[in-house]
Amino acid sequence: MQYNDDIERVLIDKETILKRVKELGAEITRTYEGKELLVVGVLKGGFIFMADLVREIRCKLQLDFISVSSYGNSTESSGIVRIIKDIETNIANKHVLLVEDLIDTGLTLSHLKQLLYTRKPASIKICTMFDKPSRRKINLEVDFIGLEVPDYFIVGYGLDYSESYRNLPEVCVLKPEVYRKKCEQ
Ligand code: IMP
Ligand code: MG
Repeated sequence: MQYNDDIERVLIDKETILKRVKELGAEITRTYEGKELLVVGVLKGGFIFMADLVREIRCKLQLDFISVSSYGNSTESSGIVRIIKDIETNIANKHVLLVEDLIDTGLTLSHLKQLLYTRKPASIKICTMFDKPSRRKINLEVDFIGLEVPDYFIVGYGLDYSESYRNLPEVCVLKPEVYRKKCEQ
């Protein structure tokens, strides 16, 4: 099948991801014990991680989503963050947990955090499933980190390349020619 042919190798398998999500859920439960929580998923990439994560958090919580675009169709951050869909919840005096698929330069989350702080929440913390600390362009405090990943462009578990491959259950690296093909189009 064409789809599987695009994959060079699996970098992180399903079991490793889900085991770490469970641990993160327990950590978050301990942090927010006795508090009410608003979990804000960063679309689109964060949706699969968020669905798994909230089922491991044993606190009373509400959900909302925000959609931002920082990449266009390239594999490099443009540094320009555009809000495509805002949250619908009034976050004043609420404990907000931002849930992201991957933090790379940090520009997207840093911008989002600043924006949400202007709405006077009780607190804002950040949870990311994957982290590429070597790529950071800005100092950003990340409160919960699933797994550190090397500086490869990865897909799967919500992460896309040009809007495809989000549904892969594991994290994979694509063959170089897949990226090249797209650039030549
Ligand atoms: P940042 O603003 O550079 O931190 O970019 C963060 C966003 O870029 C993440 O939410 C991802 O959706 C996307 N991104 C960064 N690296 C990758 C990657 O290796 N694969 C897929 N998406 C990525
Ligand atoms: Mg993202």
